[in-house]
Amino acid sequence: MRIGLLTSGGDCPGLNAVIRGAVLNGIKSYDYEFVGFRDGWRGVKEGDLMPLPRHQVRGISKQGGTILGTSRTNPFEGENGGPEQIRQTLARLEVDAVIAIGGEGTLAGAQRLCEAGLPIVGVPKTIDNDLDATDYTFGFDTANQIAVEAIDRLRTTGESHHRCMVAEVMGRDVGWIALHAGMASGAHAILIPEVSTSMEQIFTWVREAHERGRAPLVVVSEGFVPEGEDAAFSSRGVDRHGRPRLGGIGEVLAPLIEQNTGLETRATVLGHIQRGGVPTAFDRVLATRLGMASVDSVAAGQWGTMVALHGTQINRVPLSAAVNNLKRVPQDRYDEAKILFG
Ligand code: F6P
Repeated sequence: MRIGLLTSGGDCPGLNAVIRGAVLNGIKSYDYEFVGFRDGWRGVKEGDLMPLPRHQVRGISKQGGTILGTSRTNPFEGENGGPEQIRQTLARLEVDAVIAIGGEGTLAGAQRLCEAGLPIVGVPKTIDNDLDATDYTFGFDTANQIAVEAIDRLRTTGESHHRCMVAEVMGRDVGWIALHAGMASGAHAILIPEVSTSMEQIFTWVREAHERGRAPLVVVSEGFVPEGEDAAFSSRGVDRHGRPRLGGIGEVLAPLIEQNTGLETRATVLGHIQRGGVPTAFDRVLATRLGMASVDSVAAGQWGTMVALHGTQINRVPLSAAVNNLKRVPQDRYDEAKILFG
């Protein structure tokens, strides 16, 4: 059996640990051979691959990024795209099965290809932690750790200057990073896409913290829109996929907070720093286990499934369970955090 691995969509700390886990389990338990497609589905469509012998994955668990490269290429577009073309390419390359490591878009593509009869299994990946059917995705813990370290630093400079500090974290559709990083760093306000919050409420939390002698700290998800506003509030146009270009809400909020509270306010957009660098030990272990389990799924012929974390167990779920729903922050988790605001 020759297995092709690919990493697709935004990168994420832990991708290399998945690759290593898959290759080592495949070689040691099943005597499988591995290749890696370069840059996600682009490599599949163009037949661009690299061999992945055991020595190629030596020591890579601690490396950020992905040794295979990634892209947001759609497997259904272009003359080499679509199930029939991909089937022919895999046959020509003598690849018997594909392990697709990616987020919602990647796994949705994999599901459609499986429905057309292609032998694919998935591994869920995103720093946003917004994939349903798995308790956590690897990369989320690392992104939180990076965000908390940065926010702790913002707090000391904010306190020295008696300023309000606004930290913008990633999270296009969901506020998991803001919720966890904000709670861990003792934020006075956490703003997430799932919960409508007025500007007046934000000003109140900032004033309350200031009146207690604190330097107010606001942690906001990039996808947050204040109550009564629409996406144009912090819009920076659209990206090449037609999605709103995010990264800027913090800089829009800061002057409004300053005007309304009279407190000097600064904004910091953490951006892609949250996706780079070495994964935490938690993410390395989770990613390694998911990579190993994905090879067991191939061995069992469980096409159209992905591996998932439930409690401490790694289970298999249908890809459809992960791609049809975003895992949003539930209201009770936000209400719990809100007790600490102001
Ligand atoms: O989905 C992960 C994510 O990091 C989002 O939080 C963010 O909005 C997006 O990717 C950024 O994508 P890109 O790297 O294409 O700008």
